[in-house]
Amino acid sequence: MILRLFAALLTCGFATIAFAQQGVGWKAGPEAAAIERKVDALIGKMTLEEKVGQLHLSGRGEGFDINQVKAGRMGAVMNFVVPQEVRQVQEAVRQSRLKIPLIIGLDAVHGFSTYFPLPLGQASSWNPQLIEQAAYWTGREASAAGINWTFAPMVDMSRDPRWGRVLEGAGEDVHLASVVAAARTRGYQRGGVAASVKHFVGYGAGEAGRDYNSTWIPLSQLHDLHLPPFKAAFEAGAMTAMAAFNALNGMPATAHRGMLTDLLRGKWGFRGFVTSDFGSITELRLHGIAKDDAEAARKALLAGIDMDMMGDVFHKHLANEVKAGRVPVKALDEAVRRVLRVKYHLGLFDRPDVDVAAAPSLMQTEEARKVARQAAREGVILLKNDKATLPIAPAVKSVAVIGAMAVPEDERVWTDPAGLGRRLVQPLPDALREQLPADVTVAYEPAFTKNCGTEFKDKDAAVKAAAAADLVVAMLGEDCEFMGEGASRTDLGLPGVQQELLAALVSTGKPVVLVLATGRPLVLSWADKHVAAIVQTFHGGTEGRAAIAEVLAGKANPAGRVPMSFPRSVGQIPVYYDQLPTGRPQKIRQRYESIFMDEANEALYPFGFGLSYSRFSYANPRVSSEKVAMNGVAEISVDVTNQSERDGQEVVQLYVRQPVAERSRPLRQLKGFDKVFVKAGETKTVRFKLEARTLGTHDDAGRYQLDPGLIEVYLGGASLAQAKTQFEITKP
Ligand code: NOJ
Repeated sequence: MILRLFAALLTCGFATIAFAQQGVGWKAGPEAAAIERKVDALIGKMTLEEKVGQLHLSGRGEGFDINQVKAGRMGAVMNFVVPQEVRQVQEAVRQSRLKIPLIIGLDAVHGFSTYFPLPLGQASSWNPQLIEQAAYWTGREASAAGINWTFAPMVDMSRDPRWGRVLEGAGEDVHLASVVAAARTRGYQRGGVAASVKHFVGYGAGEAGRDYNSTWIPLSQLHDLHLPPFKAAFEAGAMTAMAAFNALNGMPATAHRGMLTDLLRGKWGFRGFVTSDFGSITELRLHGIAKDDAEAARKALLAGIDMDMMGDVFHKHLANEVKAGRVPVKALDEAVRRVLRVKYHLGLFDRPDVDVAAAPSLMQTEEARKVARQAAREGVILLKNDKATLPIAPAVKSVAVIGAMAVPEDERVWTDPAGLGRRLVQPLPDALREQLPADVTVAYEPAFTKNCGTEFKDKDAAVKAAAAADLVVAMLGEDCEFMGEGASRTDLGLPGVQQELLAALVSTGKPVVLVLATGRPLVLSWADKHVAAIVQTFHGGTEGRAAIAEVLAGKANPAGRVPMSFPRSVGQIPVYYDQLPTGRPQKIRQRYESIFMDEANEALYPFGFGLSYSRFSYANPRVSSEKVAMNGVAEISVDVTNQSERDGQEVVQLYVRQPVAERSRPLRQLKGFDKVFVKAGETKTVRFKLEARTLGTHDDAGRYQLDPGLIEVYLGGASLAQAKTQFEITKP
């Protein structure tokens, strides 16, 4: 505890002492042993129906039956966000025989009252401490409203931007994703809510990016790419997990004993509980592995699912399955044990009910908004900046902001659905007026009827405003139904009539700055050729537009980096940087090389890329020793100089390649990064410690293998890093 408190003090300052004490996590030593005894004693007192009740997760809304709580037939609830309502379910528990507190869950994916950038936007900051803080404040606000469990972080790896849920992840790279997974887990739990790392496993690899679609993942890739972020989250203390909807190599993840039991509990020693996804147990019928709900319930429980989210099938069938001897009592007890164990470690038996009166004052505090602003600012990626269009030059005296997305909703504020105060979002034109000199006029035209730009409101007025201004800022992208769960797309252009508007704005001849708020990397090939500058954000949250204005006006220096490659066309997908070499690499782009006839191989904007108003150079890449034992550590350093007149942040990235090994190894693999602030003209030495044992790979049977041999190291500000050094891994 003291250590945790100390760590919290270091990262968040004095004001968080009280909150750090509310952090949750696994207890150790005698405390953990005492919990096991309490769990056993409690299970000993429970009826069959009460045991099944602990595995039943039901949600606010139609069909929710509070009497089930009073009867001890419900162990967890979800989607309660209004403190008064949370209080009602907490009070109902006290009418139950054993008064076992409820787990109260919510998808607090990128905020509760204060909204932070979408997780993909947070990952764009490449700043794990900041990402942890965003999760911390999310957990803190959610727990102040009585919530004690969040269905996050999503750590699914995906290389397919057609999938609408890439916005919930951390992009294409396993190292970055693992660091982010751990940071978010720590943050949520420090804020007071148990993390549910999801979706176990392979959900991000759905064929063709179609949501819920089957995945086929070779064991080597499963272990190298998809599992490590989960492992990182569990090592950071994640207390629960959520199973995936998809079938993995032919077996629905919700009934995948190999993953849920053999690997997760067996090999990894996970002690928490696993929930199904929404209705995914009953969906086992549709997957074709259960003839009815009773069989689905049995298969899921026996595979290792402990809690049934919104399916009602454990609740309806599990007791019968046990009575009929098809599910051993021992298996049921084990699931109940995991749920109760988490409840005890969370401290729910001693936690007071939600403080309804205090909750509103704990929302959108100045500190939370400050973190939201910084997260939004650091996540802004400058993709293109022709002729130093940005920051907006002193010569620019009039700016036309175009696009309904610049002004969230007509009334310019979002009312907080939780009834916990207003979520005030500053419109981009207002934010720009605040950041630009007083003599610059800022006009605004929405052009569209809605944020998502599916139909015009007044295209001519928008073009007219653009033609009359010195500079055009078009805020476009994806909104409404175009991103998130169930929003797979085959066309990754700007939705609706937005492209038509963009072309019309460009044809005014005025420099156009395209500001994007999207849920995924779009295909920006046309924009890349025709607009002056491109600023990419992944919906920056409450402070998003204010942060964009800071960047446009030059008050902030962009320091976000691409977390997921931007394809040039949909036909290139999957496009990611850590590809394996082929026997026919691209050399002079002729037939029989591994190329497309009609498209380049490379991403439009590669992983790790992002411009800055500063200019950085790299020199003296070096490694402490030419030979490093398999269990040794290579110390690598490089000098980074800010050659510009502007202070700025650089994301120093370290990639490796093993050119000759037992198996073919990727052309580049990120193994470390550090976001550093370098003053104008200053040189900083950035150091990395690289453990040789992390440079191996898994074979076809899922066995880890580390080969001795040469390791090339590349250092730079993107996956095309050029500063090179090397060392050799030697046998002990
Ligand atoms: C379904 C989603 O797949 C999952 O991520 C989410 O947590 C649940 N719905 C609950 O809302």
